[in-house]
Amino acid sequence: MSKRDFLSTADLTRSELDDLLDLATRAKGKRPGQVLAGKTLGLLFFQPSLRTRVSFEVAMVQLGGHCINLSSNDLYELEPQEQAVMDGPAEEHVKDAARTLSRYVDALGIRSAARSGTWEHDRQELLLRSYAKYASVPVINLETSFEHPCQALADVMTMRENLVSLKGRKLTLLWCNHPEPKSLGPTHSILQVAARMGMNVTLAHPLGFEVDGEVLERSKTLAGDAGGSLQVSNDMASACRGSEVLYARSWGCTKYWDDAEREAMVKRSLQSWRVDEQLMASTNNALLMHPLPVRRNVAATDAVLDGPRSVIYEQAANRTHVQKALLMQLLK
Ligand code: CP
Repeated sequence: MSKRDFLSTADLTRSELDDLLDLATRAKGKRPGQVLAGKTLGLLFFQPSLRTRVSFEVAMVQLGGHCINLSSNDLYELEPQEQAVMDGPAEEHVKDAARTLSRYVDALGIRSAARSGTWEHDRQELLLRSYAKYASVPVINLETSFEHPCQALADVMTMRENLVSLKGRKLTLLWCNHPEPKSLGPTHSILQVAARMGMNVTLAHPLGFEVDGEVLERSKTLAGDAGGSLQVSNDMASACRGSEVLYARSWGCTKYWDDAEREAMVKRSLQSWRVDEQLMASTNNALLMHPLPVRRNVAATDAVLDGPRSVIYEQAANRTHVQKALLMQLLK
């Protein structure tokens, strides 16, 4: 039987997505029991994580299985390119690591979201895709520069819990300032899932912070097919007016992807791109969402992050439940 990976939100059909969210809701209400007893999930983190790491570990424990965690300090430097002449710093090819790990664990999760070249290079998710190609067990994307599908599952579960029906609801996906260059993973994933749910999405960002062109076009098609819409705005105030969900997050400039100093220079004039009480007051009593970690009083003020419409911790909590559902579906 062929294995199934979860690398992108596109790996689930709309009905599979609905089934997974229903299963997550049931798993949140009542623990499913030891359905993954004896199973092991290997987690490979090439960047730091709080939520993803802990929520996957808790999910596996609640299902009777367990995790093995490895970080880049534990691993040899890996070569993802096919037919590479390995006379550089990389000690091991991904194919050997993936085939070996597949003999030990029942599934693999991989976070590889570092900037390692141009946007054209990093959008290919070479390390993740190489693991998926050579591992004989399911591979789960724990965030790349291009997608963070597990985060989007938790986001959409949180929206469903608060709004019940998502079709036709107005979501503003808002770029916020941040001193560091950030991945586009969470943005791309929630954009595509919200479009598939038929939401009316406004993607708001300053000029120069456009998302990947293919993702934008795909999301427009998905939104149209689901009876929703997708528009892009460079005006923060008008984009947030009347919004029912304000999803804040920073993301990087693809044009200057390999030039962090240039990106930082551009962002110096963009400090007004943050969520505060005045912006929230212009919405239709919007939920405030952010995948975390958040730069307080840079991306959003304390008042709104700690305010009554903030669901940031619900999003984080739901990571455990959607991932339990995902693990049950991939490993059953
Ligand atoms: N949102 C998210 O993925 O958080 P971590 O980086 O802490 O895992």
